[in-house]
Amino acid sequence: MSAKLLVTGGAGYIGAQLVHDLLVAGYQVVVVDDFSTGHPEALYRVHALTGRQSEVFRGDISDGRLLSRALAGVDAVLHLAAYKMVGESMVEPERYFRNNLGGMAQLLESMHVAGVSRIVYSSSAAVYGSQADPQRPIDEDAPLRPENPYGFTKAQGEQMLEWMAWCRQWSAISLRYFNPVGAHPSGRIGQPQDGAASLVPRALQAILKEDARLQVFGTDYATPDGTGLRDYIHVVDLSRAHLAALGALLDTPVSRGHQIFNVGTGRPHSVREVLAACQRATGIRVPCDEAPRRPGDVACAVADPTRLRRELGFEATLGLDAMVTSAWEWCRGNPTGYGPIEPRAPRPLPLGRGSLPPSAAPTTQGRIK
Ligand code: WQD
Repeated sequence: MSAKLLVTGGAGYIGAQLVHDLLVAGYQVVVVDDFSTGHPEALYRVHALTGRQSEVFRGDISDGRLLSRALAGVDAVLHLAAYKMVGESMVEPERYFRNNLGGMAQLLESMHVAGVSRIVYSSSAAVYGSQADPQRPIDEDAPLRPENPYGFTKAQGEQMLEWMAWCRQWSAISLRYFNPVGAHPSGRIGQPQDGAASLVPRALQAILKEDARLQVFGTDYATPDGTGLRDYIHVVDLSRAHLAALGALLDTPVSRGHQIFNVGTGRPHSVREVLAACQRATGIRVPCDEAPRRPGDVACAVADPTRLRRELGFEATLGLDAMVTSAWEWCRGNPTGYGPIEPRAPRPLPLGRGSLPPSAAPTTQGRIK
């Protein structure tokens, strides 16, 4: 019998790609998602794409009773559920502490009670903040200087896993995502661009929407073309990194302790290079204006991906053009993302108890638990 996995946040941007890949790999998958930023439609589409079903629990990871049901018979957890908007975290830090830290504390407790001791954790390059030498690729031993509550909660989450590994001999892997970009090659699942703060969805929206223009935040950085440098990684590669980490956890009968890996390509790209890639993918120049730097931005944030390659044999393979082309296929085919979470004709999700998304008519089968 294949391993059974719980994916928290499985209806989100990264989560849906990951659930897709886990189902394709033959795993049994359970999802917990409160659909606050994730979409039931993403899971409907993943089920259609794979021809397989995940078991879906709609709810908050702070709900211990829901987690105890979702964790039944689970071999490992992939924990992606979190609020992750840097700017929003500066405005509402307490919401980020409650959800990202309080929710994670409940998850760890529920995992312990259920006897689950393996976890892959979605961390972020935001834990690093500004480094002394901004041009130098960042390795996992770099000092952690989160510059916003979001990055702080990610660093604290890693610390919680450090203690679980030490006190309870858990096996945990934290993956520090750099800049995820792109969509599933089918164009059916991807990053909802409504409200997106990140560069690629905004640049593509500026192409799609008549009245939209992209602001280029800062053209006076000490970088080759004056714009910010980042390490963009295709969401398909990012998901593959989770499967590599999961395989290591499942293959190791004894505790591996807590390991931390950067997930990036090690290849920096500037804003102008990304905009040029958008023009190549769409044939349209991105309507944009130069603007002042965005508060909190660093000039350069690029991963040193050596440790992940050396210890788990993982390397990103997809380049910037593949990322932007897949993002464009998704954006063009789904100009409003998955559409509103509200009214939709519910389609079969796996049987179970519990409430449906709001205003969805009850169905005879396929309830979200
Ligand atoms: C990239 C570059 C901007 C928008 C964030 C989070 C990080 C991670 C990835 C979760 C920068 C420039 C952007 C725009 C622009 N998220 N830009 N105009 O800030 O590197 O990282 O997302 O884990 O934690 O901090 O990504 O895409 O916002 O910015 O000029 O409208 O694009 O200045 O140089 P960022 P980003």
